[in-house]
Amino acid sequence: MRIFGLIGYPLTHSFSHNYFKEKFRREIITNTSYELFPISDIKEFSTLIATHPNLLGLNVTIPYKEQIIPFLTELEATAKIIGAVNCIKIKHSLSGQVSLKGFNTDAYGFSQSIKPFLKNHYRKALILGNGGASKAVEYALKKTGIETIKVSRNAKSKPYKADFLYSELTKEIIQSCQLIINTTPMGTFPDIHNYPQIPYEHLTTKHFLYDLVYNPEETEFLKRGKLNGAKTMNGINMLKLQADKSWKIFNLQD
Ligand SMILES: NC(=O)c1ccc[n+]([C@@H]2O[C@H](COP(=O)([O-])OP(=O)(O)OC[C@H]3O[C@@H](n4cnc5c(N)ncnc54)[C@H](OP(=O)(O)O)[C@@H]3O)[C@@H](O)[C@H]2O)c1
Repeated sequence: MRIFGLIGYPLTHSFSHNYFKEKFRREIITNTSYELFPISDIKEFSTLIATHPNLLGLNVTIPYKEQIIPFLTELEATAKIIGAVNCIKIKHSLSGQVSLKGFNTDAYGFSQSIKPFLKNHYRKALILGNGGASKAVEYALKKTGIETIKVSRNAKSKPYKADFLYSELTKEIIQSCQLIINTTPMGTFPDIHNYPQIPYEHLTTKHFLYDLVYNPEETEFLKRGKLNGAKTMNGINMLKLQADKSWKIFNLQD
């Protein structure tokens, strides 16, 4: 049996589990399972690997995308630049050695999902949040020549260094950044009334609000954007694209 899975904590509402189960059923992929491994501390990762010899690939979610890096034997070039990993390819040698190579497929998922909407419309983007996903978004936007500004609850503290606190956002900043991306978990089910504290009243019809959150389909962040005339998009396409890319990596013969 080939086993793949997801590590993170908590893993109560996992999209990936259903997505891969449905994919295996639809594509008649047999002798293969996708399992959830909720680990409450990243230190449990080594035991997980040691006790699962059939585990061939893992996705990594909140809060471990950065914490996982010291446990890996190799990093693919993009993941190294981004500094966050959401996909691990696992290889077991005959001598019992395990190789763990980290990849970042979030950057791919984000850039592919937003590509049709960019069309040279946006010069500067405001990224809300400063965790693993924000780094992938920042990398993808910079690659397309879009300048990025980061907003965090702890702007000045290291290693989470960002440009502004939410309370420092002005009309000028909002108007100079017509692309705004929420990379925080704020607004995710069941905390659906929560939203990033940005001055929504300064949004215009030229703004585009992208939420990495996909559950609920329309978060409070997107609702507030829409009410002020902005175009909006949730994270569901990004999620599917990063999952498909992970599956390709898991099955690479090298
Ligand atoms: N659609 C997709 O394919 C996709 C892919 C990746 C991630 N995501 C989603 O994106 C979100 C972030 O994931 P991640 O892996 O980057 O998580 P993470 O590494 O834990 O980072 C999340 C960041 O959000 C901010 N934050 C966390 N809780 C907050 C709160 N209560 N209020 C305000 N800010 C808060 C924090 O930044 P500060 O402390 O600096 O404020 C934190 O660094 C999750 O909801 C995840 O499900 C979606």
